[in-house]
Parts: sequence; C-alpha cells; structure tokens
Amino acid sequence: MNGQLSVFPTPDDLTRGSAGQIASVLSEAVSSRACAMMALSGGMTPRGVYAALASHSSQPIVPWMDVHVFWGDERCVLPDHLDSNFRMANEALLQHVPIPSTSIHRIQGEIEPVQAAIAYEKELRQTFRVGPAAVPRFDLVLLGLGSDGHIASLFPGTPALNEHQRLVTEVFVQKLNAFRVTLTLPVINYARHVLVLVSGESKAAILADVFLGSAKVYPAQLIEPSAGDLHWLVDQDAASRLGKVRPS
Ligand code: 6PG
Repeated sequence: MNGQLSVFPTPDDLTRGSAGQIASVLSEAVSSRACAMMALSGGMTPRGVYAALASHSSQPIVPWMDVHVFWGDERCVLPDHLDSNFRMANEALLQHVPIPSTSIHRIQGEIEPVQAAIAYEKELRQTFRVGPAAVPRFDLVLLGLGSDGHIASLFPGTPALNEHQRLVTEVFVQKLNAFRVTLTLPVINYARHVLVLVSGESKAAILADVFLGSAKVYPAQLIEPSAGDLHWLVDQDAASRLGKVRPS
C-alpha cells in the first residue's frame, strides 16, 4: 500500500496530530494560492479532530475566511438528521469558526440522490472555476476507513468505483439499504493532500488487509494521488496488526 503512515500512541494524540496536519495544509494553501479547498470526511472518527480545529488549539491558526469546505460524501438524509455528515461537521466545527456561509458547500442529502450528485458537481465546477473536461484539485481530502475497506461512499462492489467521468455520483449501498452521494476516485486522486484518519482496535484488521494485502481488493487501496501525497494517520490500536510500526 502506498502513502506515508504515522502511528500515534493514543486516540488523543491522533486527534491532536491530525488537527495540526490539517491546519498546516490549509495555512500553506492559503499562503500559496490565497484560498484552501477542503473536503471533509463523515463518520465518527473525525468528530474529535473537527472539535480540536474549532478550539483553536491546533497550530498554525487556520485562516478560515479563505477556506472553502466541501464533503467527500453524504448520506441521503436531511441536513439536521443525526446521520448527516453535514450536521456532524457543522456542530463540531463550522458553527465555531469564522468561515463565510457561502464557503460551506454541503451535498443536498434531502433531494433525489441523482439530482444531489448533479447539483454538487455543478457547485464544484463553479467554485473551482473548472470546465466540463477538467477535474477540480482539492488542497485536502479527508477520509476515514470503513471496516469493509470503503472510503468516502465508495463501497466495495459498487459501480461508483468505476466512475471516471463524473466528479460526483449517487450510489445505492445494498448492505445499508440506503443511497449515498460521493466524490469519485478521479477527484480524490487529484488532490494535493489526502489524509486518511483511522482509529481503534475495530479497524486493525481492515487496516492490515489494506496495507499488507498485495491485491487491490478494497476501495481504500485505489487511493493513489497522481500529483499529491497520501498520509495515513492512525492510532496504535488501529495499527496493532501492522507489525513493526513506530508511533510518529
Ligand atoms: C461516512 C464516511 C465513511 C467513513 C467510514 C469510517 O459517511 O460514513 O464518509 O467513509 O469515513 O465509514 O467511519 P467511522 O469514522 O465512523 O468509523
């Protein structure tokens, strides 16, 4: 598996380390290009990282006025639904930092999935100012790792994995009996920085399979930034089956 691996002794160390990495990437992007484009991950792992970013405890200080926030994926629910990735990030982070509301680009989980995907792709192209044939380049894409090896809402065995034209696609996830909307691999793999946050013993088996497995059988193994870097930020519990790894 490619990419850099950093192992943090505890979940709190992982939270602090991840917040610091995110802050550094965003600050560098604004210094270099006057703005930073970030796609947030959903799920539970990043909640503590978002809270750390909101607490201004992370260094360097994030220039939120110049950051645009998107999501890597969204559940097809209302934005105030408990399962909404927007709701989680809004409560943990966005309500607490001076980011302009016009710089918060949520996926409309409340409308028809295919319409939500089309609308989100349009918003991506407009915000990044890229035409129909171009791929927008995020400064940072945050991802988590599902226990089945999914990332964003790119689940094993779904057509979304083979979508290389659209930037955003709807996907019906059989095992969840639910629709999701997700960025596609071309967008994720064109990012300058991809950070994958993995925490806890429950992810140790899948992380070892993804990292140590030779065949590319998991969506997470398809993350190969063409012109950027991939960094796995994990805690010791998640890394417990990786063999000899040193805490970062
Ligand atoms: C989602 C996420 C998904 C998540 C993984 C890990 O919408 O659920 O985008 O890809 O990152 O499932 O989730 P946890 O952090 O909750 O383990």
